[in-house]
Amino acid sequence: MDQEPIVLLSSREIEKMRQAGRMAAELLDYLEPMVQSGVSTLELNDAAEEWTQARGAKSAPLGYPSGSDNPFPKSICTSVNEVVCHGIPSAKQILRDGDIINIDVTPLLDGYHGDTSRTFFVGEPSPLARKLVEVTEECMWRGIRAVKPGARIGDIGAAIQEYAEANGFSVVRDFVGHGVGRIFHSGPQIPHYGTRGKGKKLRPGMVFTIEPMINEGTYEVEILADKWTAVTKDRKLSAQFEHTIAVTQDGVEVLTLLPERVPAVGTV
Ligand code: MF3
Ligand code: CO
Ligand code: CO
Repeated sequence: MDQEPIVLLSSREIEKMRQAGRMAAELLDYLEPMVQSGVSTLELNDAAEEWTQARGAKSAPLGYPSGSDNPFPKSICTSVNEVVCHGIPSAKQILRDGDIINIDVTPLLDGYHGDTSRTFFVGEPSPLARKLVEVTEECMWRGIRAVKPGARIGDIGAAIQEYAEANGFSVVRDFVGHGVGRIFHSGPQIPHYGTRGKGKKLRPGMVFTIEPMINEGTYEVEILADKWTAVTKDRKLSAQFEHTIAVTQDGVEVLTLLPERVPAVGTV
């Protein structure tokens, strides 16, 4: 992936990405109140697919990657508890109080992908689950705040890794952020661990995701027999948050955030 050229998007294309990104954020807002004990992950999937189709968009995960002998079979990823990412929605998987669930959506609107995820609580979380989820969201924001022209890709990972490890958690190595635009996954790769000052320089017009997966125990993962579901090797909890961002002339723009949710200047 890293050898792929890094595409710089024009302001016209970034406007397209804003529209796809806003749709992705709205889709998560739509799904959030459905995250309740007794609901199956397939019900969340089917609601997402219907919502997306009604808006003239497609669910990029469905059948991805095209031409593969094992394409992703559903429209969203639902990753519960020890599932790190790429959980497959199923009628057999019923949410229970105390679960945590990451919902990862990627609507494809007018040729552009908006890729975002959040981890939600089902009912009341344990104190440890709450801490893991809160630390993971803060890790994502620390990574986002490291983005500006001239900064390096390693600055993002370093900011995330420091905060995760200072809180006693670990950073998944096997999945990374990625360039996104007309193509779902392109260069550059954005590791969520690393060293300040290392890696490629960020330039205005680069658009990529920051999507740290943070584990309660070991960072090692295993892939289940379905060849998609990634779980923690020790079966302890994992959480994730993801935004799609653009490098701007003087900083960063979060494309998968509704404009009314953008934190006040100085807090991003
Ligand atoms: N949305 C995921 C990401 O953040 C990718 C899911 S690929 C799928 O990169 F095929 F599993 F849907
Ligand atoms: Co992504
Ligand atoms: Co995603």
